[in-house]
Amino acid sequence: MPYPIVLSYMQAERLLTARKQGQQSVEVSPDLGISMVTAKLSNDGVEFPRGEQVSWQDIEKIKKATVNCFVVENGGIRAIQVFSEDTNRMCSLLPTKRTPSMLIAGFTMHRIVDIDPMQDTLKKIATIAPISGRVLDTATGLGYTAIEAAKTAEQVITIELDPGAQEIAQLNPWSRGLFNNPKIQQIMGDAFEVVPTFEDIVLIGLFMIRLFSVSRENSIQVFFISNYTGCLSVGGACFITSETWRASRVRRLQEER
Ligand SMILES: C[S@@+](CC[C@H](N)C(=O)[O-])C[C@H]1O[C@@H](n2cnc3c(N)ncnc32)[C@H](O)[C@@H]1O
Repeated sequence: MPYPIVLSYMQAERLLTARKQGQQSVEVSPDLGISMVTAKLSNDGVEFPRGEQVSWQDIEKIKKATVNCFVVENGGIRAIQVFSEDTNRMCSLLPTKRTPSMLIAGFTMHRIVDIDPMQDTLKKIATIAPISGRVLDTATGLGYTAIEAAKTAEQVITIELDPGAQEIAQLNPWSRGLFNNPKIQQIMGDAFEVVPTFEDIVLIGLFMIRLFSVSRENSIQVFFISNYTGCLSVGGACFITSETWRASRVRRLQEER
């Protein structure tokens, strides 16, 4: 099945500018900047190459939405947001000038001020490079960490607690690798319960303590040290994020044993 078109204010602005300039077609991205296609412009709206149409009224609505991306479906648009009953939180795909992030209960999942979420991910990955062997990513989110780690790792296991977050990832064009890379195995569950069942892994734990931990939030640090490092292989790296991203640090097990 072809991927649905996903648009943000970035593409809406481009389309509206082209319309204003009297253009009959314009190059625009149907997937938040990953690729470009030529869309036809008419008085009614925009037509994409596979025939999907979006009215100018909907394009105006997308342009005004700074905290939502939209999927084009059933002849209209739908904001990519989900209320997660399991965690009682609202999750949505947050547009940026390039790679999107996710808003969970009002908090952004990546750094977005003066940095793109993908650059943010690459920086974190660089702190524990080279990544090889079996990798455990304790918090899937949009899957950027898992996707990047899978470029060099043998296998990546990634755990997500919130079905709402996974639903958002399924609609995010930048998260496609999560669902089509055979090296990545996704597990839905609580990392606190799943992690102790593993052995011999290289671990990337990307928790934002207090903000994103749903359960036992005050005991994550303890959990990391007693349980996570317990299943690390010698030489394995554990990326710990506490309270703020600035407080992030890397623990290498070989230095601690
Ligand atoms: C900071 S984001 C992770 C960002 C992600 N690594 C990426 O590249 O997009 C945190 C994610 O961890 C999930 N999470 C929070 N507590 C969890 C737990 N105990 N077990 C598994 N996932 C959890 C949240 O639902 C959220 O989707």
